[in-house]
Amino acid sequence: MKFWLIVPAAGIGSRMQADRPKQYLQVAGKTILEHTLGVFLDHPYLQRIVLPLAAHDRWWPQSALAGHPLVVTVTGGRERADSVVAGLQALPALGAGPDDWVLVHDAARPLLQHDDLQLLLDSLQDDPVGGLLACPARDTLKLADGQGRSLRTLPREQIWHALTPQMFRLQALGDALAKALHEGVAVTDEASAMEHLGHAPRLVSGRSDNIKVTRPEDLQMLLMATHKVRD
Ligand code: CTP
Ligand code: MG
Repeated sequence: MKFWLIVPAAGIGSRMQADRPKQYLQVAGKTILEHTLGVFLDHPYLQRIVLPLAAHDRWWPQSALAGHPLVVTVTGGRERADSVVAGLQALPALGAGPDDWVLVHDAARPLLQHDDLQLLLDSLQDDPVGGLLACPARDTLKLADGQGRSLRTLPREQIWHALTPQMFRLQALGDALAKALHEGVAVTDEASAMEHLGHAPRLVSGRSDNIKVTRPEDLQMLLMATHKVRD
């Protein structure tokens, strides 16, 4: 079962407040982006990786993976969804067909484990819609009043955190994103665009440590995890 991969990496990482976009911070000898790509590069079913980058990205050319034969760069867009659309648009010219599976995985999620990637692929290969790695909410959830006070406690059983990779068919995902963006729907992940079309993406239970590195304090966890897992 072949798959294509889009790794949106065109963000500026404003919440990380670093001297460069967070995907280019060094952790345990490699950039976050290099850790992320490394999880996929040796997968036997991977066709190509499309990497949407910021228009004036000056960091990628310094990467050890720049020029890798499986990695194709494109110019990303204003929002994450625009970057994903730019990635999708590059796929047909690389040989992808409309019903081929496309995985989308955040550049800022370097802690994805091979087992979770394989679980996603195995769980969805015969699925009519596709789906995503996700994990059930574990904390008690509060509905806030907007002024810092809790109004009530929400039922937790139906709440999941969306992770990546997310996995859908090329044409279906392209159509869904185009419609959602055109209609001004908030598209913070691929599944939300599919849901807007009435589909119900499958939730594949993944590890909660597949975090999106977002704030400075996340780097400490990343450092500990990379030493533990990859050494
Ligand atoms: N991303 C992208 N194109 C954008 C915005 C984000 O490709 N216009 C990518 C980021 O590089 C990241 C992923 O989407 O890998 C998830 O986004 P997020 O964690 O929000 O990263 P940033 O937008 O870079 O961070 P911030 O929101 O703090 O500025
Ligand atoms: Mg962002």
